[in-house]
Amino acid sequence: MKALVYHGPGKKAWEDVPDPRIIDATDVIVRIDTTTICGTDLHILKGDVPAVTDGRILGHEGVGTITEIGSAVNQLAVGDRVIISCVSACGSCSYCQQRLPSHCLSPEGAEGVGWIFGHLIDGTQAEYTRVPFAENSLHKLPEGVSDEAGIMLSDILPTGFEIGVRNGRVKPGDVVAVIGAGPVGLSTIMTAGLYGASRVIAIDLDDNRLEQAKRFGATDVVNNGAADWKEQVMAMTDGLGVDTSMEAVGIPATFTAAVDIIRPGGTVANLGVHGTSVDLPLQDLWIKDIAITTGLVSATTTPMLLKLVAQGKLSPEQFVTHRFKLDDFMDAYDTFGRAAETKAMKLAISR
Ligand SMILES: NC(=O)c1ccc[n+]([C@@H]2O[C@H](COP(=O)([O-])OP(=O)(O)OC[C@H]3O[C@@H](n4cnc5c(N)ncnc54)[C@H](O)[C@@H]3O)[C@@H](O)[C@H]2O)c1
Ligand SMILES: [Zn+2]
Ligand SMILES: [Zn+2]
Repeated sequence: MKALVYHGPGKKAWEDVPDPRIIDATDVIVRIDTTTICGTDLHILKGDVPAVTDGRILGHEGVGTITEIGSAVNQLAVGDRVIISCVSACGSCSYCQQRLPSHCLSPEGAEGVGWIFGHLIDGTQAEYTRVPFAENSLHKLPEGVSDEAGIMLSDILPTGFEIGVRNGRVKPGDVVAVIGAGPVGLSTIMTAGLYGASRVIAIDLDDNRLEQAKRFGATDVVNNGAADWKEQVMAMTDGLGVDTSMEAVGIPATFTAAVDIIRPGGTVANLGVHGTSVDLPLQDLWIKDIAITTGLVSATTTPMLLKLVAQGKLSPEQFVTHRFKLDDFMDAYDTFGRAAETKAMKLAISR
């Protein structure tokens, strides 16, 4: 088969590789119908994730059709259309039992790391992929849910909801600010309404992304390139700050911005993947009764989100800005890598 293979920082190729096969009785093989590229894949290609080694097939998002099942798989069948979760869950370790499979203790990939696809084992940017612990790591696609909607449930929508909205303790009436209106920030915006946020303020430096944010449910937008951006945000609250601020970029400046606009008693939810240390002005914060949360998505809310998608209450297919065939994977990376120019948000790369 063909797959997108990582060959060290800056190097990748769409090339011939051996077909995946069942190794454990709980595995299935999925034919990839649609996959996509995540910002994290670009981090990997820059060399920021050294655990990814030469020869690894990238990708942790995918929708496909089961072509083969292991002997212990009872709940899935050949021909089922499924969403592949970015986090694999053994289902029986203590973290899986606590519904935190992001820290799954199974030795598949590495003990304590639930994100293994396209990281520690071969991923979904391929014609076929092997899915370990398939019954706990796949979701059957209901009739009527498109591949383009389903693919957003592999990673970005559960990430926005679990690490942004749920960790951020959003309640009815809250004013929420989201810093960074990329796919992850927009996923928090799309799902903040589920918990009744009254106002959702998107903050970004890119006016195109802010324009997009309105389509995803932002009630207000602020370009933080403006000198008075903080005053603009404060004016949208009672002057005391937002109830929840979410950091969805992954750099020190945006974490500081999230802390700067939080009201006493509020919650700062960090989603961004950070590569350097960040200042925490505890001398100002100790008195404010705030909570700061962090996390890696567990994707345990995918079944709930999928019900909302099936009922037309959420329309994540609107993330798709560009469509490619699997054989054009190198062009797809080029388009995604130049998002500011191409205005790419999420790509649908299909067979
Ligand atoms: N915690 C998790 O489980 C998890 C899962 C997936 C992704 N992530 C992380 O979430 C973050 C966002 O992911 P994404 O795919 O949406 O990224 P992205 O790069 O597509 O989007 C980031 C957005 O931030 C904006 N931005 C950049 N610098 C800014 C600044 N100084 N002020 C305001 N806005 C700024 C950009 O214009 C862009 O719209 C990344 O760090 C990613 O690695 C975390
Ligand atoms: Zn991802
Ligand atoms: Zn586990």
